[in-house]
Amino acid sequence: MLRAFAAYYAPHKRLFALDFGCAVLSGALALGFPLAVQAFVDRLLPQGEWFWILLAAGALLVVYLVNTGLMAIVTYWGHVLGIAIETEMRRKAFDHLQRLPHRYFDGQKTGHLVGRLTKDLEEIGEVAHHGPEDVFVAVMTFLGALALMFWVHPQLATVAVFIAPLVIWLVVGYGGKLTANWEAQFDRVGAFNARIEETVGGARVVRAFANEDHERRLFARDNAGYRRAKLDAYRLMAATVSINYLGMRLLQVVILLAGAWYVAQGSLTIGGFVGFLLLINVFYQPLEKVAAVLESYPKGIAGFKRYQEFLAIEPEIVDRPGAVEIARAKGAVGFDAVRFGYDPKRPVLLDLSLEIAPGETVAFVGPSGAGKTTLLALVPRFYDADGGRVTLDGLDVRDYSLASLRRQIGVVSQDVFLFAGSLRENVAYGRLEASEAEIVEAMRRARLGDLVESLPDGLDTIVGERGVRLSGGQKQRVAIARIFLKNP
Ligand SMILES: Nc1ncnc2c1ncn2[C@@H]1O[C@H](COP(=O)(O)OP(=O)(O)OP(=O)(O)O)[C@@H](O)[C@H]1O
Ligand SMILES: [Mg+2]
Repeated sequence: MLRAFAAYYAPHKRLFALDFGCAVLSGALALGFPLAVQAFVDRLLPQGEWFWILLAAGALLVVYLVNTGLMAIVTYWGHVLGIAIETEMRRKAFDHLQRLPHRYFDGQKTGHLVGRLTKDLEEIGEVAHHGPEDVFVAVMTFLGALALMFWVHPQLATVAVFIAPLVIWLVVGYGGKLTANWEAQFDRVGAFNARIEETVGGARVVRAFANEDHERRLFARDNAGYRRAKLDAYRLMAATVSINYLGMRLLQVVILLAGAWYVAQGSLTIGGFVGFLLLINVFYQPLEKVAAVLESYPKGIAGFKRYQEFLAIEPEIVDRPGAVEIARAKGAVGFDAVRFGYDPKRPVLLDLSLEIAPGETVAFVGPSGAGKTTLLALVPRFYDADGGRVTLDGLDVRDYSLASLRRQIGVVSQDVFLFAGSLRENVAYGRLEASEAEIVEAMRRARLGDLVESLPDGLDTIVGERGVRLSGGQKQRVAIARIFLKNP
């Protein structure tokens, strides 16, 4: 998973180097500060020479200014990097979604899919930015502080080192739990989105059956599930924050006592003591940092995991190697011992064979659910036959490139889907670059001419979501006009 994640940095090497370099430099400056204080207390204070004290203060100011600049760079350009990666991931996910076959959508809820593209990737940018640099800087300052502590006073450093492993263990342990928890939360949010999507989409049905209470109960269940998952997360968060705080204070108290003892004994200078206390802070910061980002890391990691799972779904229906482009089909359609079922155990079409000549008009008649729509869905490869073959102009439809095959075929289905835009946009969907005159002509042929003329906004009339502002017949006609425009 780490390698897959790292691959996303490749196009942003320079940005990453800038961000990373500044973060590391800033971390190094943080390490130097306690030593400067130690020298200040031990050397400059006893001499009491104001020239040197002012000079030291000036130098410190310069260092702080530099560090401010570094932090500003890390904050802004680091996030630029993060959001670039997040945007790229979202683009990829959307492209992938577009390639997934009908079969995949049959088994999915829209709300869950929306979540894949939004919520799941929300925290990725944050992690992409903070992830590598935080880990590196944390390790660097941790080891650096450790070395410096041993340099200042080995015995005191040993005391600090004994307490650290316990804290690390706690922090890492809770991190794992949080990741699991966030994964659960993403599922809950998906369920939740799906519920809202259905209730809003089906609002007319809900009201027609006066089933608002029923919907309220279903929603309350998902809402409560989400609440529970979030509460679990907050409980874990409270535990981490408290443990972390307490760990730090304990360490400080112990060092304070032990340090005081060493100072009294004369093996530690006052400056060394102050410097050491500051070093303890630097030493502990990486742990604290890890704990602080524990909130965003697990979210990001859980999101990235789900993102990868999503990308791993095979599109199934794709171009064969060496697929043929077809410019203009003659229109000979053949079914050759075709077998197909949505569920392999329940075949819908069984050894079906037929030939349709170019220019021939054929009507399929049969009871509802007999498989008429299914039969037609095999020609543009919305689904692939399980056995036998479907041919167009004598060649298996699987030998054509998908895009060119589908350009040959116009489908007006029973349930028409209109986009929530204007009449013009919906008809032009048949051929995006169509001219105004062509759109009007297509609508005239679909017997929509009178309608357009009677509307005050004409072609710019907004049809509402899924075309709710049109009658059922008008919706069908818009779908037909689309096909006239596509004109396969
Ligand atoms: N996406 C799908 N997933 C699973 N099963 C499906 C799917 N679409 C249709 N079916 C099933 O396949 C069978 C054939 O459906 P199909 O839509 O082809 O019927 P039809 O002949 O077009 O019926 P109608 O005249 O009612 O439109 C039905 O039993 C239906 O339940
Ligand atoms: Mg049908």
